[in-house]
Amino acid sequence: FRIAVLASGRGSNLQALIDAIGAGRLDARIAGVFSDKPDSGAIALARQHGLPAVARSPRDHASRAAHDEALFSEIEGVQPDLIVCAGYMRIIGEAALRRFEERMINIHPSLLPKYPGLDTHARVLAAGDPEHGASVHAVIPALDAGPLLAQTRLSVAAGDDAQSLSRRLLPREHALLVASVDLLARGRVRLRSDHVELDGRRL
Ligand code: GRF
Repeated sequence: FRIAVLASGRGSNLQALIDAIGAGRLDARIAGVFSDKPDSGAIALARQHGLPAVARSPRDHASRAAHDEALFSEIEGVQPDLIVCAGYMRIIGEAALRRFEERMINIHPSLLPKYPGLDTHARVLAAGDPEHGASVHAVIPALDAGPLLAQTRLSVAAGDDAQSLSRRLLPREHALLVASVDLLARGRVRLRSDHVELDGRRL
């Protein structure tokens, strides 16, 4: 089961996948790591682990569509069964998404459909929510809006700030992502554009 990871940031979710595969907890292989940020932690981590790493900066392309096309052609080249967006901070255009329909997931740090987009931890606190969490969902053209595969929940504590929330949520995100990829790798989950199936049943 070949995974392509798409990331812009430090790469801790990528690290969680690498660790799970190394420990034999996830029967999959990372076919490549792809980024819009050549100096990202995710790209450095991929290189450290000898994984194919490809970064294409938007600056080097004339338009969003041209950048998408360049990066997603590279992704297609490693023939992934699944693309995992783990902190990829760009909106992916429809043409690129269509090439990988029903083969792409994203991890997002909120209990979707609450708080799509940025600054989720601060928004949870500002709203006074009693709980926070993270979601894994199928990617569709609308931002952070695809059908849900799985969520993890966390109680908000009295003294929490955005940093402490994000720090406590992160290990849960990692476990959620590994568990989600495991279900996909085992063929137990199928992604559809309007729903997700687990063991043949609609979630
Ligand atoms: C995670 O919080 C993920 O949910 C969000 O971006 C962050 C990426 O972190 N979409 P990392 O680069 O995997 O450490």
